[in-house]
Amino acid sequence: GNSWKLADHPKLPKGKPVAVVVLDGWGEANPDQYNCIHIAETPTMDSLKNGKPERWTLVKAHGTAVGLPSDDDMGNSEVGHNALGAGRIFAQGAKLVDLALASGKIYEGEGFKYIKECFDQNTLHLIGLLSDGGVHSRLDQVQLLLKGASEHGAKRIRLHILTDGRDVLDGSSIGFVETLEKDLAELRAKGVDARIASGGGRMYVTMDRYENDWDVVKRGWDAQVLGEAPHKFQNAVEAVKKLRELPNMSDQYIPPFVIVDESGNPVGPILDGDAVVTFNFRADRMVMIAKALEYEDFDKFDRVRVPKIRYAGMLQYDGELKLPSHYLVSPPEIERTSGEYLVYNGVRTFACSETVKFGHVTFFWNGNRSGYFDSSKEEYVEIPSDVGITFNVQPKMKAVEIAEKARDALLSGKFDQVRVNLPNSDMVGHTGDIDATVVACKAADEAVKIILDAVEQVGGIYVVTADHGNAEDMVKRGKSGEPLLKNGNIQILTSHTLQPVPVAIGGPGLSPGVKFRSDLQTPGLANVAATVMNLHGFEAPSDYEPTLIEVVDN
Ligand code: 3PG
Ligand code: CO
Repeated sequence: GNSWKLADHPKLPKGKPVAVVVLDGWGEANPDQYNCIHIAETPTMDSLKNGKPERWTLVKAHGTAVGLPSDDDMGNSEVGHNALGAGRIFAQGAKLVDLALASGKIYEGEGFKYIKECFDQNTLHLIGLLSDGGVHSRLDQVQLLLKGASEHGAKRIRLHILTDGRDVLDGSSIGFVETLEKDLAELRAKGVDARIASGGGRMYVTMDRYENDWDVVKRGWDAQVLGEAPHKFQNAVEAVKKLRELPNMSDQYIPPFVIVDESGNPVGPILDGDAVVTFNFRADRMVMIAKALEYEDFDKFDRVRVPKIRYAGMLQYDGELKLPSHYLVSPPEIERTSGEYLVYNGVRTFACSETVKFGHVTFFWNGNRSGYFDSSKEEYVEIPSDVGITFNVQPKMKAVEIAEKARDALLSGKFDQVRVNLPNSDMVGHTGDIDATVVACKAADEAVKIILDAVEQVGGIYVVTADHGNAEDMVKRGKSGEPLLKNGNIQILTSHTLQPVPVAIGGPGLSPGVKFRSDLQTPGLANVAATVMNLHGFEAPSDYEPTLIEVVDN
């Protein structure tokens, strides 16, 4: 309809191809030995940073600037790409769940009423990531939900835990399981039969994304639903401690285990009539398990037994697929994204990344919607990621392939916007391997070069930015920034950071008078969308966060 029509920008022309490059996990921090971006050879990014000062700036990528509950919350790819694409700041899942739990509204909603039907006769299962990382889930929310569900009639509860070590320090899982066990013991003292039933590491069990490797989801299904796993324990703390002793093991990759009773029977397989809640609020790594739990027609792996359950997500994870159909908290209504506007205003759009980040520049960018707005004007290309490896052994990942697809898309003349995510600094940063992360940063920089060269060739414009920090700081620090030691060793930071991220603009198609404004107080990622719309020759809608640029007459 007409409401999609964007006003012309008064000064900037249309028709210049714009490359939007998102470096995943590339923040700005002090140049020290734990800053892999600083250590790595990154001549292309260096030249942007040391180029014209009015063409390089920093924006906030964490906390309230991206809709997270507080400024102690590090950024992440979901909220980062949501902000980049939507141009406004939405209260995100973490915050919405906090509010629903605090007000008790979560227990009045349709989703809770739906699962509550099972409480009298059957078991409530809770599946999700057990940590206080605040990226996919939060332990305190699980604790509140346990308490609230039992107060609202749940008599038998089983937890299927996924250990983290990626958004939090490796090794911290034991403490989280201990905390949970204490809560469960208290519930049992009150007459609620509540126990941990199964577990496994988040990168090996259940939490795959973008259909990279269905085996990950199957391993979870076998443990959670069928009660089958290669490792059996009577106690979850012992399970995590013992399995961590396996060679090269870390919290992220703990193999699946089930908790069994004295006779060796699993204490909590998911059975007909049970209720299931996946308690992660973040979408990407819940979509696959949601499909396995919800879809009648499903051929991604043999589910063997498909229990008739009442399933609800903490949130609805995919707004286009309406998946899952029942959920405890309504997701943020991220609508009228810049991608949708631009496509309806004739901007032909190309987006590309490799599998493990593919949905970041499509699904997240478009407000957690899968699919095209107008397939005649859009092309999304996914480069298959290497499967079954940790990316420190392959730190170059598919950066060159992604960049070459972007280059070809630019040179083809078929697209007005070419958008990519370069995953290296994030995916390798999460492994905690500093040497490999340095290689990763160099590879990402080389990919940027390929794209900028193509922008040069077609007379286009580039916007190079990032979704949050990661590789620029690989050590856990104290209040005054000093690396924290444990038993004489530094503690490796596998997670994201609170650091700001760069935004660089340039290219032969950029009008000479364009510069970053200096009057914005604390711009963040949400200011990028209006900026990109301007570079396509349009004004952003009036409710968008203001553009980062101004055009001065020279
Ligand atoms: C993950 O899901 O891999 C991490 O928890 C967060 O990383 P991302 O936000 O960069 O995807
Ligand atoms: Co990350």
